[in-house]
Amino acid sequence: MEKETIGVLGSGTMGRGIAQVAAQNGHNVVLVDINEEALKTASNSLRKIMERLVEKGKWEQDFADKTFGRIKFSQSVNDFKDCSIVIEAIVENLDVKHKVFRDLESIVSNHCILASNTSSLSIASIGAVLQNPDRVIGIHFFNPAPLMPLVEIVPAVQTIDDTVNRAKKLIDGWNKVTVLAKDTPGFIVNRVARPFYGEALRIYEEGIADFATIDWAMTELGGFRMGPFTLMDYIGNDVNYAVTESVFKSFYYDPRYKPSFTQKRHSEAGYLGRKSGRGYFDYSENAVKIEPNKDSALGEQIKNRILVMLFNEAIDALFLNIASKEDIDLAMTKGVNYPKGLLQWSEEIGLEKVLNQLEGLFHEYGEDRYRPSPLLRRMVRDKKSF
Ligand code: NAI
Repeated sequence: MEKETIGVLGSGTMGRGIAQVAAQNGHNVVLVDINEEALKTASNSLRKIMERLVEKGKWEQDFADKTFGRIKFSQSVNDFKDCSIVIEAIVENLDVKHKVFRDLESIVSNHCILASNTSSLSIASIGAVLQNPDRVIGIHFFNPAPLMPLVEIVPAVQTIDDTVNRAKKLIDGWNKVTVLAKDTPGFIVNRVARPFYGEALRIYEEGIADFATIDWAMTELGGFRMGPFTLMDYIGNDVNYAVTESVFKSFYYDPRYKPSFTQKRHSEAGYLGRKSGRGYFDYSENAVKIEPNKDSALGEQIKNRILVMLFNEAIDALFLNIASKEDIDLAMTKGVNYPKGLLQWSEEIGLEKVLNQLEGLFHEYGEDRYRPSPLLRRMVRDKKSF
């Protein structure tokens, strides 16, 4: 049976990755971009990626040719007319998204799902311009889409169950791990991960340790693949700062998500990370590697402080029903490669210990940022487990 045709709007970093995933799973794909150059770049880049997969022996030549051949590159949204789903991955701007969603609805069938890959806009606000908003949904891939297993499925208040089920079934069929998230800022991953950056920056700002030492504590002692500063340099300080600021504003300025001046200044100075040759670390050819201070007591202090903040965020997401406990743990291991699910991890360490440490920070600083989640308090009080 012929598989349904998938539409992808926007052929940038995310759109072309999503197109690849759909095509390698046997779908015909229509990849549309208004910019001809962008389409050319996407086509060249996909060709190159597939050639490399063949060279490495991961794909057969025939499979690569067929996969590439299934992608139709187009500048016209009219080519979406036979698609059963269109996934939008264009510029992160609500006005522009509104315009394209209106256009899309006038072209596709009534049955076609209209999805957005947005990271920071609400799905409800995107769907608000549709005549039939029950077909709108967030389908949030992670970068690079072909490699990262996690996809957050985000129904808006307008979305009907049939849309959710069809979207989930489709993406599950692409060998992705789907989790269901509430339409709230940052969904699961970009909300729960905030302290990994924010608390690391705070520890640095207080003068407790330098970038290299904090990264060492989180990788060597915490088991994370990358330390927070290396990761921010990889993501780009401009991008990471923008996400933090957007989450902070969207949460009505909850101090827990407060951005950091250190990151803002690095971003303003053009110290964006790897892509600009310098971020928190120097990536130039002759750069001298900064050695961390491998004091184990200091390392433990850093690791535990960042970890309890992450645990608290995950527990609070569960408290507010952002997602199920299984999905919160899956999201962090499959979306950002955390060594363990945070809820499971917090229990292994002991919820009472986690609460005590948070209470200690809360009393010492007197800042709302360190307030323990009511669910954590309740669980400790009632001696419960997840
Ligand atoms: P990008 O800037 O790499 O690509 C955007 C593409 O959309 C460009 O090729 C541009 O020509 C095209 N475009 C802009 N307006 C258009 C229109 N009206 N019609 C058709 N094409 C149009 O952007 P990127 O990074 O791929 O992000 C796209 C979306 O995915 C955003 O909503 C972003 O929040 C989200 N996202 C990005 C991630 C990332 O790591 N870059 C991760 C997950 C989600």
